[in-house]
Amino acid sequence: MTEKVKVGIFGLGLRGFSLLKHVCDIENVKVTALCDLYEERIERATNYMKEKNIELPKFCTDDYHKLIACEDVDVVMIFAAWEAHIPAAIEAMRAGKSVAVEVAGAYSIDQCWELVKTYEETKTPIMMLENCCYGRRELMLLNMIKQGFFGNIAHCDGSYCHDLREEIIGGNVNKHYRLRNYMNRNCENYPTHELGPIAQWLNINHGNRMVSLTSTASKSVGLHDYVKKHHADDEELMNTSFNQGDIITTVIKCAHGETIKLTLGTTLPRFYSRGLTVCGTDAFFDENTKTIVRDGEFTPEEEENWLKENIGNEEKYLEEYEHPIWKKYQEEGVREGHGGMDWLVLNAFFDALKENTPMPIDVYDMATWMAITPLSERSIQMGSSPVEIPDFTNGKWCVK
Ligand SMILES: NC(=O)c1ccc[n+]([C@@H]2O[C@H](COP(=O)([O-])OP(=O)(O)OC[C@H]3O[C@@H](n4cnc5c(N)ncnc54)[C@H](O)[C@@H]3O)[C@@H](O)[C@H]2O)c1
Repeated sequence: MTEKVKVGIFGLGLRGFSLLKHVCDIENVKVTALCDLYEERIERATNYMKEKNIELPKFCTDDYHKLIACEDVDVVMIFAAWEAHIPAAIEAMRAGKSVAVEVAGAYSIDQCWELVKTYEETKTPIMMLENCCYGRRELMLLNMIKQGFFGNIAHCDGSYCHDLREEIIGGNVNKHYRLRNYMNRNCENYPTHELGPIAQWLNINHGNRMVSLTSTASKSVGLHDYVKKHHADDEELMNTSFNQGDIITTVIKCAHGETIKLTLGTTLPRFYSRGLTVCGTDAFFDENTKTIVRDGEFTPEEEENWLKENIGNEEKYLEEYEHPIWKKYQEEGVREGHGGMDWLVLNAFFDALKENTPMPIDVYDMATWMAITPLSERSIQMGSSPVEIPDFTNGKWCVK
């Protein structure tokens, strides 16, 4: 029997607890250490493991440096607050531990460079667990794009639009990191759910790269309004001011001329959407209406009728363009967790580790995608001025 990979989990909030359950289910993987600032969150995790008759981790701590140093840990999985991601990832790589990191934006360009340099010095496997890159729709579109369905792509949109007002405002009660970030920063703070898939569609870091961006922030009124409506008796919150604009619009220019528009909207009422579009010479995709239009399918006079009959037609394309990852997954039986994406992204990490193959979302992708946050912050501070996006690959992006 092959020896099990020994995993230490750092961060056992909502996300960490949910991923722990999946990690416990992965073959040849064993959770040997847990870390969180709050004892009750560690207890919730160990109680779950007890209930499921899973061998309990011997090492539990509130100090992530100790988790990284723990001899019984080969892999560090970082599911903690955003601020801890890059420092902990760097420390783990230096300690020779493989690293899987949940999504977040960075805090500075310097720390993105340090992440890349640490990887290049240590060659320790590291992957960003961007689960949306494993969404069924995102992968079908990737497959279609690679087969030339959309022709020459000029533009893609994506968004993280999610009404998070209660989660943000409840930060003092639920000990959540978003509140302090929304008070102090003003930026595209969560770019990767939509940018990850788009970067893969446009071959970013593999023949193409993102060159510059501009970011614009709307005024900030959503959170204060929400506090007035729902938490008026909380004096501290009533006196809190929020720096974060309600809608952040970022436009990225790529080396081959494509543009990418990212929209962040988390502090006004709305429905959830990652708002993806693909605009090519041969076809158009729109996530909000789940519709694919091929060039020449209707004349302007026919458009209204065509839409009545075809709106929401994306599923029709699954039969021909379902991605092989999803085909295999359907055959093996879909697991829970954001429509299956969580299971797929975790398995992609452990498979690459086991087979010693390159990580599907590597340190260059991670640094490039996370860098959008401090770059957008800088652009907003300078009145939406264009800012350069560093080439973290140092030219390797030219090689496909
Ligand atoms: N991919 C997805 O779909 C998805 C969904 C939700 C959250 N996330 C990501 O997961 C991460 C965690 O999010 P969450 O909602 O679970 O947050 P959370 O606040 O509920 O949990 C974070 C946990 O990390 C712990 N922590 C933070 N800093 C620590 C430190 N220095 N030492 C020890 N423990 C520390 C906190 O105590 C907390 O329990 C974030 O990066 C978030 O962006 C991803």
